[in-house]
Amino acid sequence: MSQPSLIRFGVSIEQDLIKKFDRHIAHAGYDTRSEAIRDLIRARLVEEGVQDPGAAATGVLSLVYDHHKRELEEHLTGLQHDHHEMIIATTHVHLDHHNCLEVILLKGTVGEIREIGSALASFKGVKHSSLSLTTTREIH
Ligand code: NI
Repeated sequence: MSQPSLIRFGVSIEQDLIKKFDRHIAHAGYDTRSEAIRDLIRARLVEEGVQDPGAAATGVLSLVYDHHKRELEEHLTGLQHDHHEMIIATTHVHLDHHNCLEVILLKGTVGEIREIGSALASFKGVKHSSLSLTTTREIH
């Protein structure tokens, strides 16, 4: 991919705020303010992009569930088979004697991913779930 042309612009900012920002970016490991600001802008655009139910997106769904709960694993697997075109990959980790972690990578629209994420998370025996969405639509 070719390097996009760069534009320089000046920003007026309160001294206290830029000190806090500089501490934050040093802690986060950025070498320059420019890269930190670019990442903030991209994060904001992605955040807005994933508010649009029709936006093409990728999701990472993590589920922690009770391994002993009857039929739960069949429900979880069955629903994923019903939507196999949206499931990119699934990783299963046996956390301890009782608990499993399943990490499911999904692709589709934001609305579809949220819907399946909610359906999977709401099965009885799922103890914790989190869904992280990203879209590349705004940040090519
Ligand atoms: Ni397991």
